[in-house]
Amino acid sequence: MRTLLPQLALAASLAHAAQTDEFFETRVRPVFARNCYACHTDSQMGGLRLDSGEAVRKGGKSGPPIVPGKPDESLLIQAIRQTHDRLKMPPGGKLKDEEVAAIAEWVKAGAVWPAGAVSEPKPASPQYAITDRQRAFWAFQRVRKPAIPPVKDAAAAPDAIDHFVEAKLEAQGLKPARPAEKRVLIRRATLDLTGLPPSPEEVDAFLADPSAGAFAKVVDRLLASPRYGERWGRYWLDVARYSDDKLNSTEDEPYPNAFRYRDWVIQAFNQDMPYNLFVKAQIAGDLLPSADPLQWQPALGFYALSPEMQDERVDATTRGFLGLTVACAQCHDHKFDPIPQTDYYALQGVFSSTEMHQVPLAPKEVVDAWDARKKALDRAQAKLKDFLAEQTDQLGAILASQTARFLLASRNLLPANLAPAGDLDHETLDRWTQFLGTPKIGYPYLNHWAELVAKGASRDQFETAARELQDKVEEVNEEKHTVDEKNKIKLGLNPSRNDMSQADLFSLPIDQYNFWRDLFSESRRDAGGAVKSREGVFYYSGSNIDRFLSGEWKRRLDALRQEVVDLKKAMPAQYPFLQTIRDIQTPHDIRVAIRGDVNNRGDVAPRQLPSILQEGAPKHFTNGSGRLELAEGIADPANPLTARVIVNRIWLHHFGRGIVETPSNFGNMGAAPSNQELLDYLAARLVENQWSVKSIHREIMLSAVYQRSAEDIAVNISANLSANLSANQAVDPDNRFWWRSNWQRMDAETLRDSLLSVAGNLDLQMGGPPAPLNDKNRRRAVYGFVSRRKLDPMLALFDFPNPNNSSEQRVVTNVPLQRLFMMNSGFVEQQAAGLAKRLSGDDGERVRQAYRLLYGRPPSAEEVQLGVAFVRKSNWNEYARVLLNSNEFEWVN
Ligand code: HEC
Ligand code: HEC
Repeated sequence: MRTLLPQLALAASLAHAAQTDEFFETRVRPVFARNCYACHTDSQMGGLRLDSGEAVRKGGKSGPPIVPGKPDESLLIQAIRQTHDRLKMPPGGKLKDEEVAAIAEWVKAGAVWPAGAVSEPKPASPQYAITDRQRAFWAFQRVRKPAIPPVKDAAAAPDAIDHFVEAKLEAQGLKPARPAEKRVLIRRATLDLTGLPPSPEEVDAFLADPSAGAFAKVVDRLLASPRYGERWGRYWLDVARYSDDKLNSTEDEPYPNAFRYRDWVIQAFNQDMPYNLFVKAQIAGDLLPSADPLQWQPALGFYALSPEMQDERVDATTRGFLGLTVACAQCHDHKFDPIPQTDYYALQGVFSSTEMHQVPLAPKEVVDAWDARKKALDRAQAKLKDFLAEQTDQLGAILASQTARFLLASRNLLPANLAPAGDLDHETLDRWTQFLGTPKIGYPYLNHWAELVAKGASRDQFETAARELQDKVEEVNEEKHTVDEKNKIKLGLNPSRNDMSQADLFSLPIDQYNFWRDLFSESRRDAGGAVKSREGVFYYSGSNIDRFLSGEWKRRLDALRQEVVDLKKAMPAQYPFLQTIRDIQTPHDIRVAIRGDVNNRGDVAPRQLPSILQEGAPKHFTNGSGRLELAEGIADPANPLTARVIVNRIWLHHFGRGIVETPSNFGNMGAAPSNQELLDYLAARLVENQWSVKSIHREIMLSAVYQRSAEDIAVNISANLSANLSANQAVDPDNRFWWRSNWQRMDAETLRDSLLSVAGNLDLQMGGPPAPLNDKNRRRAVYGFVSRRKLDPMLALFDFPNPNNSSEQRVVTNVPLQRLFMMNSGFVEQQAAGLAKRLSGDDGERVRQAYRLLYGRPPSAEEVQLGVAFVRKSNWNEYARVLLNSNEFEWVN
C-alpha cells in the first residue's frame, strides 16, 4: 500500500501534463509536421492523414491507428517504435527516442487532439507587418520606471512597493491587513528564502531584537545563506526543465554530468550573479569572453540537457526568458501575438547552427584512453551480435529444410524410410505442434494442411502436402533474403536514407511476409501486429542458440562473449565532462516550413531577434550561430520583457501568485498584470541595481505588503478589524490586490527538507552527483535524482513539475494520498522518531520543545496538557508524527 499509492499519483500527474494542449502543440504536433506530413497530408499514404484530430480518429487502410490510453496497442506507436514487423515509420529512418516517448505519452494520456477550426493555416506571408496596435500592447512597451503614486494612508505605505499596492487598495476600497506577528514573519521569511524552518534560537534572537532594522538583519542573513541558492535555484530549474536523465522510451540513459548545471545554477543564485549575465551564460556561455574557457560552459546545460529538438529549444528560450510563445508560430503565424512564422524559423536557425558537445574535465591522455576502450567494447559487442545473427539465420535455413519431417512427425506419420522422429529437434517439433494448433491470420499456406487434419486424410495425402509446404517455406525464406540483399544495396547506394520512401524499397507480398515472420523472425504476431509468441518456429537466438553450436563455432561464440565481459569489466567510469553546445562549422539560416511541413519550404528566415523586439530595419545575426547576439538581445536593458518576466517570477514565489498570473506567457493569451506599475517598478529597480536578484528580494521582503498577516484565523480581532476583513473578503476574495498575505502549502522539496530538518537528520552537504530520494537519502531534495521517465513518487505526489516541459509555476493539489503519505510512509515515520529523540526533559518540556521546533512558537497550556495526556496513552514517536501531520507544520502563512 505504502509504495503503490504514490505510483498511482505519479501516473496521474504525468498523464495530466501530457493531456494539456501545450504538450501537444510543443511536443507532438511538431513531430508529426516534421516527419509525417510529407506523406500523410494530401498524399494520404496508407490512406492516412495525420493533420487533424478527425482524420486520425478515422485512420487509414488499417483503421484507427491510435487506441487512446493504450500506446502499446496503437499501430501508430508500433510503427514509430519500429517494433511492428512490416510498418516502420517514417520509412528509412527513425524518430528520436524523446519524440517517440512524447507521442506515446500523449497517446497514453488519451490522445486528445486540441479542438480548433479546420481551416488551413495560411503560410507566413513575406509582407507580414506588425501593426501599431500590436506594438502598443503593454508587454512590448519599454519599461519606464513609474512615478510613485500618492496614497491617502501614508502609514500603510512605508515603501515604494507599498505605494503601488496601497494605491490599488484605496481605489478598490480595500483595507490592508495588520502586520504579521514577528514569529509568523520569521518563519515565513526563512521558509521562503531557504526552504527550511527557522531554528528556535533564530526565532528567539529575532524576538529579542527590538531594533527597527531587526527584520532587515534576518533577511540579509537568509540571503547570505547557501540554503538560499538551493531553494531559488530550484525554481529556475523548473523553468529550465532540469533533469538527470532523458525521456527515453526504451532504456535508462542518465546524463551523468547533469548535476554540474544544477550546481552552477545554485551557485549563481548564491553569488547573486547579475541576472543579465545569468541569461547570457545559459544561451552563449561558450562565446562569452573569459580568461578561463570553462568558466561559463556549465551554464549551457540549459540546452544540452534537454531533448535535442530545435522546436523545444525555441520554446524553452522564449517562454523561459521572454514570456513569449514563439513556438506557436512554427506552422502558422502566431494567432494572437505579433510573431510571424519567420521569427520562429529565425530562432530555429540559431539552434540548428549549434550542436551537442562534451567538454572533458580530465587530461587528454585520460580522455583518449577511455575513448579507445569504449571503441573496443563497442566493436566487440557488434562482432558478437553479427556472429549470433548469422548463426540464427543459418540454423533457420537448416531447420526449414526439415519442414516436411516436422509436419509429419507432428501427426505421428513419419514413415520408416525417413529418419525417425528421435532425430528431430524436440523443441522445434513442439513449436510446430503448437503453431499448427493455433489459427493463422494473414496468409493461406497452412489452410490445406488444416483441411487434411479436419477430414482425417490419408498418409499419402499428408506426405504430398508436407513436401509442398516445405518447398513453400524454403522459397519464402530465400526470397526474403534476396529482397533484403537488394534493399541493402539500394540503401548503401543512397546514403541519405530519408529521401527514400517505403514505396521505393523492395518487399515481399504481404501474405508471404507474414508467413516468413511466423517461422523465421523473433516473434510471431497476429494480423494486428500484436505479439502472440516470443519466437518464430525456426528462430533461436541469444543463449537459446547455444545448444545447436559445437566445436569451433561454440568456441568462437564463447570467446566473443568473454571478450565483451572482459572489456566491460575493465571499463573505468567515464571521465567527468560538461554537457554543452557549440556552433557548427557552417552556421546557416533556414527556410520557413510551410504549415510546419519540412518538405515544403518557403522563404529564408534570416537569424535575428523576434521582430517585435526590434525597432527600425531588422538586424540579422552575423556572428556564428548568432547565439551571442540572441543572448545580448535578451539581456539588453531595453528589452521590454526580460526584466519584467524575472521580477514577476520572484514575486510569484514570494506571494504564491504572480503580478502576471501566466508567468511564461506575457502575450495576448496570457493574463494582464494585476498591477502593471508595480511590475514595471520592480523591473526598473532590477536593472538599476545591476540586475541583482537579491536586491529585489530584499526590497520586496522589507515592504509592508510582504509582512502582512494572513488574517484568516480570526483570533482576538476587534470588531473593527473583523468588519474590514469581511468587507475585503466581499470585494477581493482571492486577494488579487494583496491586502493580506496568502497561505501557501510547502512544496514537495520544502516539505521533505523540513521533515529532515526538524528531525535533526538533514545532511547539508552541497552539490555533486544526484542520488535517488529514498529513505536513506538525507540530503536536500534539490540534490535528488530528477527523472524524466520516472519521477520520484514523493515529489510527484506533492506536485513537483513534470521535467519534460519548461514549467512556469507549481500547481497545488490537495489529495488524500498526501495525507496517507504523511500518516503511513516509512520516511515520515523515521523523521518522527528522529524528532522524538531530540526532545529531552520532563513531558511538558518535551512538548514545548517540539512546538518550538516545528511551529516556531510555544504551545498553549492546553496544548501542553493534551500532549502530555496523549503520550501517556501512546508514545513520543506517535506524538511527533501527529504534530508533523498538522497543517500548522505544512503550511506557511
Ligand atoms: C516518405 C513517406 C512517408 C512518411 C514520411 C511517413 N509515412 Fe507513414 N506511411 C507511408 C506509406 C507508403 C504507408 C503505407 C505503407 C503500407 O501500408 O505498407 C504508410 C502507412 C502508415 C501507417 C499505417 C496506415 C494504415 O492505416 O495502414 C501509419 C500509422 C503511419 N504510416 C504513420 C506514420 C507516421 C506517424 C509518420 C511520421 C513519424 C509517417 N507515417 C511518415 C509513407 C510515409
Ligand atoms: C506543428 C504545427 C502547429 C503548431 C506548433 C501550432 N499549431 Fe496551431 N494550428 C496548426 C494547424 C495545422 C491548424 C489548423 C488545423 C487544425 O486545427 O489542426 C492550427 C490551428 C490553430 C488555431 C485555430 C485557427 C483558426 O484559424 O481559427 C489556433 C487558435 C491555433 N492553431 C493556435 C496555436 C497556438 C496557440 C499554438 C502554440 C501553443 C499553436 N497553434 C501551435 C498547426 C500548429
